[in-house]
Order: sequence, then structure tokens, then C-alpha cells
Amino acid sequence: MRILVVDDDLVTLTWLKQVLEREGYAVSTANRGALALEQIAKDRPDLVVLDLVLPDMDGMDVLRRLRQDPAARDLWVVVLSAKGRPEDIVAGLRGGADDYVPKRPGADVELTSKIRGLFALAKRTAPEPEAAPAPEGAAKVFSFCSAKGGTGTTVVCVNTCYALAQLAPRAQVLLVDMVFPIGTVGQSIGYESRDTVARLTQRVHGKLDRALIEKYVSPVQRWGFRVLLGACDPQEATLLDVGQIGPLFEQLRTMYDYIFVDFGRTLSRISLPIIQNSESIVVILTPDVNTVKLTRLTLDYLEALGVKQNQVILINNRTVGRVWVSKEETEHALNVPLSGTIPYESEYLTMAINSGVPFAAKFPQNAASLMFADFARLLRDRSGR
Ligand SMILES: Nc1ncnc2c1ncn2[C@@H]1O[C@H](COP(=O)(O)OP(=O)(O)OP(=O)(O)O)[C@@H](O)[C@H]1O
Ligand SMILES: [Mg+2]
Repeated sequence: MRILVVDDDLVTLTWLKQVLEREGYAVSTANRGALALEQIAKDRPDLVVLDLVLPDMDGMDVLRRLRQDPAARDLWVVVLSAKGRPEDIVAGLRGGADDYVPKRPGADVELTSKIRGLFALAKRTAPEPEAAPAPEGAAKVFSFCSAKGGTGTTVVCVNTCYALAQLAPRAQVLLVDMVFPIGTVGQSIGYESRDTVARLTQRVHGKLDRALIEKYVSPVQRWGFRVLLGACDPQEATLLDVGQIGPLFEQLRTMYDYIFVDFGRTLSRISLPIIQNSESIVVILTPDVNTVKLTRLTLDYLEALGVKQNQVILINNRTVGRVWVSKEETEHALNVPLSGTIPYESEYLTMAINSGVPFAAKFPQNAASLMFADFARLLRDRSGR
């Protein structure tokens, strides 16, 4: 969940940013009303904490403008103000605020509990629309890749796929491991099979049909999606008949609603046509200089191939505790906004992987679980379903 804090006082901004980040929210700040409106239009946060006394505008005017803007219809606004008289609170709520917290000792505790409450309410009152079954040939393909190995592509891919399957329980969701010679989707979800893409392509005689594919695809109960592994070992990977990959994906598109593909860092002759034709290309990077530079090259390459900027979703994954490059520096270097950051989850992620369960099923309260759910929603919304 993303929160924008608007306050003219730098000390308050810094303090609130810390408080809310500790709660697991992604927080940005603005110290003027006009700037806040600009940032809201651009970044579409989920919630705004709004001070009423701002240098350039009255906070109530900011609120009014937001409430008149249909694009900001789902935005939560919590006023945090030194004006704490009952009539101020009533005026704020009448003006369209979802809640009002007077600035006084303990305001941080009150604010965070109200925010938590609003988000919980949002979940209850806005049931996810069920995904309509896709017409033939209309699967939405989401390609996950990275410019460098070990950035967490597989972990993000499988967990976002799980979140989407939860979000759209009636949709047919498939995850395909396309990392050769050996991928780690199987290990990451605690699933083993010798029915792989490599073997499947060997079995095709004539037309690659649905019945054959169905023999190779298995549902993984705990994860709520179906899976097709790439190859079990490098020896098996040599069986891969590259010429069948295109027809395989063509057929898969007619069988499922959503297809998640883990390409790892294999931007190759095999993967490129599928990546280019994806609904969204999710590029995972880590906040270090080398990865950011390599990611820049990858993005340039994709652009040269005709990939549109709005097809690309950039995700920052904190695979290690330290941050070397800030969000702003990364966005500046890549000229693409980051769609979100997955926090460093130290041993928790490893624990979830070792037990082969979705991170959100084991640690539902952790920030990464919320981020995976956010990405799934973003992918679904972008695909227009
Ligand atoms: N946000 C995170 N916090 C802590 N550890 C993480 C995080 N993301 C990934 N990891 C760890 O990093 C390791 C690599 O993750 P993963 O296998 O998903 O990377 P990958 O990019 O798919 O690697 P490969 O290049 O081998 O395909 C895993 O052990 C995982 O637990
Ligand atoms: Mg991987």
C-alpha cells in the first residue's frame, strides 16, 4: 500500500515517513498542496495523510479538489491537523476526509491504527470482481525477467502468480518455467515433475494439441495455479525443440486466462517473441549500481525491439538488507518509474521457499505479502480484466 504524506513541516514529514514505513507502507512526501496534487495524479497512492495548513494552499481546498476528481475516487484521505476542535473534525469529514486525527501526543499510534482500519475496510467493502472467463485465444501473458541472475525473479514470479490466483479464484492461471538449462520454479513452490517443456516439445508429431499439453500441465493445490516446468536437469534441457516454443505458447494462450512466465535472465531468440507479445513485462532488479546499469541496457534493448514503455513494469527487490541506490536514483537512471519495492525479508523468504508454500500464506502480515498482492492487482488491472 502506498501513502503520500502532505505536511509543510519537514520534521513532521520525516517522522511520519518513518512511522508509516515501519508499518510496511511505501511512503512518499510532499510539502506543498500543489505538489501533492501533482504527485497524486502521477503516482496514484492508495492513501493521503493531509495537513490542513500548507504554504501555498488551504488543505481543505486540496481535499475538495481531490473529491471532485473522478480519477481519485478510490483514494483514502486522512487529515492530520493541529486544528483539533470537534467543529474542525466535523468540517474535515464533511469536506470529504475519510478520517481525521488531531495532532497531539499519541497521534502516530492513532493514525497508524486508523490507516490499518481503512485498508482492512477497503478489502471488505470492495470485493474483487471475479475474472470473466477469457474468450478463446485471449490469455494474458506476463513475462518475468531480469538483467542479472539472483535478483529474485523466480520468487517474485511465483508469489505474484499465487496472489493473482487468490484474486481471481475462477480464472485459469498457468505458470511456465522457461529458464534453461535449469529453472528453479519447481524448487520454489515445492513441486517436482518430469513432465517438462523440454520433453513436451519432443513428443510433438504434427500439430501441438491441447490434449497433449494437458498431460504435461499439473495443478499445484497449495498455490492455486497450474504449472509447466522447463527442464529438470541440463541433460534433459538438450531435448528442447526450440521450434516448438512458438506453437506451444500459441496453444497455451487459448487454454488459460493468465500465463505467468519465468524467463530469468534469458533474453534469447526463444524468449524474445513471447516477451514482446506479453501483456506486461515485469523486470526485477536489485538496488545496486551494476544491476541498475544492466537493467538500463535491457530496457534499451527491449525498446529497440518495439516493446512499449507501458508494457514494462519495474520492480525493485531488496534481496539484501542494504540499499546502494535509492528509488529516485534508480528511476532517474532508468527513466521508468518503479512500480514498487519488495522489502528485504531476510530469512522469512527462505523459510517459505524451504517449506514450498506461498510467502503470503506463511507470513500474511509481512510487507512483501502485501506487495505481491499489489503487483497481482496491477497486472490484472492493466490487462483490463
Ligand atoms: N526480498 C527478498 N528478501 C530476502 N531474500 C530474498 C528476497 N528476494 C529474493 N530473495 C532470495 O534471493 C534468492 C534468489 O531468489 P530467486 O531464486 O527468486 O532469484 P532469481 O533471480 O530467480 O535467480 P536465478 O538467476 O538463479 O534464476 C533466494 O534465496 C531468495 O530467498
Ligand atoms: Mg530464477
